[in-house]
Amino acid sequence: MKDTLVIKIDEQNIEDEKLNKPAEVLKNGGLVAFPTETVYGLGADALDINAVKSIFKAKGRPSDNPLIVHIWNISQLDELVIEIPKSAKLLMNKFWPGPLTLLFKKSQKVPSVTSGGLETVAIRMPDSKIALEILKNSNLPIAAPSANTSGRPSPTNAEHVLEDLDGKVDIVIDGGTTGVGLESTVLDLTGKIPMILRPGGITHEDLTKVLGPVEYDPAIDNIKDNIKPKSPGQKYRHYSPKAQMEIFSGNINAVVEAINERNKSYDKDGLKVGIIATEETKDKYESNHVISIGNRKNLSTIGANLFHVLREFDKLDVDVILSEGVDETEIGKAIMNRMKKAAGGNITYVN
Ligand code: TXA
Ligand code: MG
Repeated sequence: MKDTLVIKIDEQNIEDEKLNKPAEVLKNGGLVAFPTETVYGLGADALDINAVKSIFKAKGRPSDNPLIVHIWNISQLDELVIEIPKSAKLLMNKFWPGPLTLLFKKSQKVPSVTSGGLETVAIRMPDSKIALEILKNSNLPIAAPSANTSGRPSPTNAEHVLEDLDGKVDIVIDGGTTGVGLESTVLDLTGKIPMILRPGGITHEDLTKVLGPVEYDPAIDNIKDNIKPKSPGQKYRHYSPKAQMEIFSGNINAVVEAINERNKSYDKDGLKVGIIATEETKDKYESNHVISIGNRKNLSTIGANLFHVLREFDKLDVDVILSEGVDETEIGKAIMNRMKKAAGGNITYVN
């Protein structure tokens, strides 16, 4: 067991001396969890094999699942990749810092543990002042998966990180609640047509404006069939609450009716049911365990709250979560991707 140190940092007023200890720990091969604009990351020196191994150990992460390397300065790419395609330059100009991860052909310097044995390395520049300061002060490329136990919902605040990793990491930087709340978009530029391997904060619509045609990896939302995803992380049942989860999607009135009906029948069976509702619908359910996840008219509020709400229902110890779905456009695509994974693909379309 480690003695995990929590350092509180105010994003609006970053005190320089608070950055020294995390930088020192990272330089010595230790583990530092820190906020980004998407979710909290569990960081270590991406070029230090033992440090990277300790990330996998702390998370209980399968070793074939590669890590994203975080940088604060584009010049850091030089030692990490062997080639920067023109399309990548366009995207970095437009979306970095931000929730977009790009795959590059990796250099010899990037150890195989970091890339999960692949010849590509995933890199992003996070849009969070705290994250950028941590990266800058260590001046190392930092490998950072989401700072949760493997398979659990990603952490959007420091308490979530401590729930999973207290005693397993050296430092947790508490920088408050993250903004986007869903992990970055992962984009593969190594094929003929750019391919989204994981939908996230930078949407398909955003990317096509810059690149023209962009595809989704067909395996993305396919939880039941055995299509092999190009992103190893997408093959695991993920973001999972302890409860079984069911999604209802389609016409919102029909969704409310279907959830109420299902709730009644589970109630009869003596099951404890949680309902994921929205601001527009939360008063329409006959249940004591309704949590509004955000506003349908502003889907980014739903993205920001999803993982937190899943963790809240764990604490309430419900047996089943019944959740409304959202339209799969813009950020809705990423929201539904995470919801479907949390539900193991259990979705009913109603109209
Ligand atoms: O927003 C984020 O991306 C957060 C914050 C902390 O930056 N990080 C994050 O990392 O979500 P992680 O490890 O939880 O998810 C990384 C995803 C996994 O699905 C992994 O398989 C995929 O990116 N990935 C990483 N390197 C890859 C590669 N070389 N080829 C294909 N997929 C890759
Ligand atoms: Mg993750």
